[in-house]
Amino acid sequence: MNYDRMKEILESSVGTKLYNHCLSTMEEAGKLARIYGVDEEKAKIAGLLHDCGKSNNKEENDNLTHAGTSAMLARSVYNIDDEEIINAILYHTTGRENMTILEKIIFIADKIEPNRHYEGVEDLRRIAYNNIDDALINALESTIEYVKRRNQELNIESINTLRFLKEKK
Ligand SMILES: [Fe+2]
Ligand SMILES: [Fe+2]
Repeated sequence: MNYDRMKEILESSVGTKLYNHCLSTMEEAGKLARIYGVDEEKAKIAGLLHDCGKSNNKEENDNLTHAGTSAMLARSVYNIDDEEIINAILYHTTGRENMTILEKIIFIADKIEPNRHYEGVEDLRRIAYNNIDDALINALESTIEYVKRRNQELNIESINTLRFLKEKK
């Protein structure tokens, strides 16, 4: 499937705001891919589709399940059969142990694309272009802090990913 067709389907299913986030994540992922020497096309496709299964209805949105839904739809609706792309979509919210560079790029591109505005994003952007593992640690620590402050349930996968990255350092 070509980009135009993928974009057409995506725009009609996720709505304008999320669609724009997907386009920006695609561009950001492409840039990071060039820096880190991974396949730019795969990064762009994964970036474009990473949230394709996310509902544009806030109430319906479950942050823990949309990555799985997106990976499933990438396969069935967008005909993606490349496992590296599918896994980059599948692990974009929690990460996992032994992430590929492509997986790390999608995780980070999602958080630093230009539409993102939050405290610390400028630091994260700078780190992301220097050391992708440090960027992951920074992003995961911020997310975990944020969740703790709000007394929300901590995601075990994210904690696991963080522990793994820190042990490896
Ligand atoms: Fe997402
Ligand atoms: Fe996203």
